[in-house]
Amino acid sequence: MAQILNGNFISKQLKEEIKQEVAQWTAKGYRPPHLAAVLVGENGASVTYVNNKIKDCHAVGFKSSLVKLDDSVTEQELIGEIKKLNADTELDGFIVQLPLPKHIDQERVILAIDPSKDVDGFHPENFGKMALDMESFLSATPFGIITLLERYNISTEGKDVVVVGRSRIVGKPMSLLMGRKGYPGNSTVTTVHTHTRNLEEYTRRADIVITALGVPHFLKADMIKVGAVVVDVGITRVEDASKEKGFYLAGDVDFEEVEKKAAWITPVPGGVGPMTRAMLLKNSMLAYTRRFKSVEGGVKV
Ligand code: GUN
Repeated sequence: MAQILNGNFISKQLKEEIKQEVAQWTAKGYRPPHLAAVLVGENGASVTYVNNKIKDCHAVGFKSSLVKLDDSVTEQELIGEIKKLNADTELDGFIVQLPLPKHIDQERVILAIDPSKDVDGFHPENFGKMALDMESFLSATPFGIITLLERYNISTEGKDVVVVGRSRIVGKPMSLLMGRKGYPGNSTVTTVHTHTRNLEEYTRRADIVITALGVPHFLKADMIKVGAVVVDVGITRVEDASKEKGFYLAGDVDFEEVEKKAAWITPVPGGVGPMTRAMLLKNSMLAYTRRFKSVEGGVKV
């Protein structure tokens, strides 16, 4: 029976640490960190994610703002809003919740974000710095996974890591982070994806499997080796009329089967998800302290 990599527990610890850090700053007379979220349209999962992010801000003593735009907003109007947020000297960081409506070019939107406020770490400047081991904002999910591995002292040195998926926000950065020098890292990383032949041959050899596919119950017990560490990034809403909300959340891992064979496993929910939320706060705290160092006289109000 696998041990649980408990994202709920670790994220609570992290939030408590951040809360104390905020209290120390405000006790000295500085304004609290301020995070904004831009939400376009009414996508059910996006609304939930953004509401949770706002809730998290309040829990740690941050100021938060929500910029809600209709899904008929034009790309130019959205970029206009981003420019206002870039220019706001009382704002430390912001996120634009993805996905965006089809008529909006996501890349142009991300490029419009000031990299020093890009607490999602999506801007190519931050991604590039991450890839080159320079200080940057790490995107929240990969940052959350490496923090979870770190807090449970999971050994990564020389390990075979297989990342399933190559998305910009999880698969690609995750592969880079596990392969970089240091801890967590120093792993031998293989990225597998939809075009990989005999994918299970790779996952079966892996000491650590990280799945970020969005295909419910994809990873079965016969696809891993005994004692593997399994990190499940998938979180898909599966329609289910018997549930109060009309759906349940499914990971990429067939948890029931896999937990009998793995050494460590993240549950869904309660694994990677809460870590992602906590790391957004961590990045916002970082943006705040960096701003404080770069602005003469700090952020005192
Ligand atoms: N959509 C799904 N995950 C994320 C995330 O981490 N940040 C943003 N902005 N949008 C998302």
